Amino acid sequence: MGKKLTVAVVGATGAVGREMLKTLHARNFPATEVRAFASARSAGERVPYGDAELTVRELKEDVFADIDLAIFSAGGATSQKFAPHAARAGCVVVDNSAAWRMDERCPLVVPEVNPQALEAHNGIIANPNCSTIQMVVALKPLHDAATVKRVVVSTYQAVSGTGQKGMEELERQVRDLFNGREPENTTYPYRIAFNVLPHIDVFLENDYTKEEMKMVHETVKIFNDPAIRVTATCVRVPVFYGHAESVNIETEKKLPAAQARAILAQAPGVRVFDNPRELIYPMPYHCAGEDETYVGRIREDESIPNGLNLWIVADNVRKGAALNAVQIAEEMLGRDLLRVRDKSVFL
Ligand code: A2P
Repeated sequence: MGKKLTVAVVGATGAVGREMLKTLHARNFPATEVRAFASARSAGERVPYGDAELTVRELKEDVFADIDLAIFSAGGATSQKFAPHAARAGCVVVDNSAAWRMDERCPLVVPEVNPQALEAHNGIIANPNCSTIQMVVALKPLHDAATVKRVVVSTYQAVSGTGQKGMEELERQVRDLFNGREPENTTYPYRIAFNVLPHIDVFLENDYTKEEMKMVHETVKIFNDPAIRVTATCVRVPVFYGHAESVNIETEKKLPAAQARAILAQAPGVRVFDNPRELIYPMPYHCAGEDETYVGRIREDESIPNGLNLWIVADNVRKGAALNAVQIAEEMLGRDLLRVRDKSVFL
């Protein structure tokens, strides 16, 4: 047995938390102990970890003293409150919420894109938004080859992005409709079953939603390139797992579709799934449960000299959340960065 490595999953009863436990186990993450935390409501419940079960503990400010790594997916308010306590106790946090993403003290990391940003971490590392992650995984190699100037993205996002309650709402509404009952909306403002909602997260002053602006700001931060222009429309669709995105890019240099396809075929974390003649294109249906970001429908945009259209699909709970967080932890282990250098940064 190697060095002691105690790992906590915070939000372990949630959709992403459960996937985090599954991912840690499936990838043989070298934890010597894994602890599951959630709110007081679920203390004492049991959650699966491989063939075993973990007893859920209540999250409290003083639980982090003997924990080396905590992966949070318990919402922004919980991260805002508890992540600084972890860092102060010397426990490195990988946080899946939006609470720390734009904080200058926190690297925002997709391991295939900007792993070097981890070197300067101060104890809290942010996991980007699910829609941003799959988009930048696919755009990074194209940006390196031809410099992406502008991105126009429309998303088709699964209800699991809203957590367990999103999936329960879709399932309940479908059942109600098939049984002649009027479905209730509790999680979304309108019915999600057999409907499409052009509204994810709250509306902002500029009439965009917060989800849309996350894609704009996070892409700039991850690419460390303020010149890249992004505009987004984020849409919730009645799909359980897997976000799809229609992405139009304009590049500095001409990138023929065949070259883009060849570049993407070599790119880490990407799987090209693109053969229109054989009706091969990615769909949430077969990307759910997969690690890779699938790219298809690669076409030149014939309305501008240097443009491409892409269709990008990934499992939002996996690469969009749990897998990316665990890959960040693996990257830190490999770079010997799993420690908090200065415990006073978030005091
Ligand atoms: P709990 O089940 O006890 O409410 P999801 O995104 O699927 O809704 O999951 C959210 C996760 O965040 C759950 O595990 C939930 O635990 C956890 N959580 C929510 N609020 C808190 C809190 N105040 N402290 C700790 N965990 C929390």
